[in-house]
Amino acid sequence: MEPYNKFAEVYDKVGCLNFSEKILPYLYQLLERYSFKGKKVLDLACGTGELALKLAKDGFEVMGLDRSAPMLEKAKEKAQREGLHIPYLHSDMRDFLLPHKVDLVTCLFDSINYILRYDELETVFGNVYRALNPRGMFIFDMNTIFGLSCGWDDKKTGEDLGDVAVIWDYSWNAEVRLATLEVTVFQKRGNIYRKFKEVHKERGYDPKNVAKALRRKGLEILDRFKCMGFAKPRKDTQRVIYICRRLPDGS
Ligand SMILES: C[S@@+](CC[C@H](N)C(=O)[O-])C[C@H]1O[C@@H](n2cnc3c(N)ncnc32)[C@H](O)[C@@H]1O
Repeated sequence: MEPYNKFAEVYDKVGCLNFSEKILPYLYQLLERYSFKGKKVLDLACGTGELALKLAKDGFEVMGLDRSAPMLEKAKEKAQREGLHIPYLHSDMRDFLLPHKVDLVTCLFDSINYILRYDELETVFGNVYRALNPRGMFIFDMNTIFGLSCGWDDKKTGEDLGDVAVIWDYSWNAEVRLATLEVTVFQKRGNIYRKFKEVHKERGYDPKNVAKALRRKGLEILDRFKCMGFAKPRKDTQRVIYICRRLPDGS
């Protein structure tokens, strides 16, 4: 079972929207700081489309892309409710083609960590390069190796949210830098609870290798910050945001 195919049903109800709510003002600060002037945005791994929706409301021409059809269904429903035209592409970030180029690509809330192989990380960066207009920007966050090792390290938590109850079961394999989350959901349907399980995996990457892959694919790192602020990342930083610009062709 692909991750998010069932989880899509409860994603917005179990606290997963907190990140996109917090990131929007921060994203605007970043765009101002780097004098971003464009209008066309691709939200890669857009999930249920919360960020895309907010950007569209603020006047950006947004497209969203995700490999989970059920997540995209939720995103489309929201856009329709708000009367907004947001093209949603059902595609994989390792292999996609856009109808037109964009000025900004975002890929937020761990989504890049879902790319489990280094060669595929390079492929994603190459695809982002091709999606961007000259001097376009790419902003993404990543759980660091430290973040995964302490946030996802053999811990089990649960929460009862009324109609939905969730058990989060994390484990971390330090040798291969692979974090696994087994999520068990109980979702109320009438008088009964439907139970399902999904397994999510995230890879931790050495920032030197991330930088190498970006550079190799024509993306220059303008800055890296501890996510949600402007401090330089430290050894104990759990999430880093990368602000990148597409280099001119052939550089
Ligand atoms: C943690 S969610 C983040 C969703 C959204 N960016 C947000 O902030 O709420 C990760 C998303 O990445 C998507 N995803 C994971 N691997 C992907 C891939 N290879 N191509 C496209 N989407 C992918 C999942 O389907 C899921 O919607």
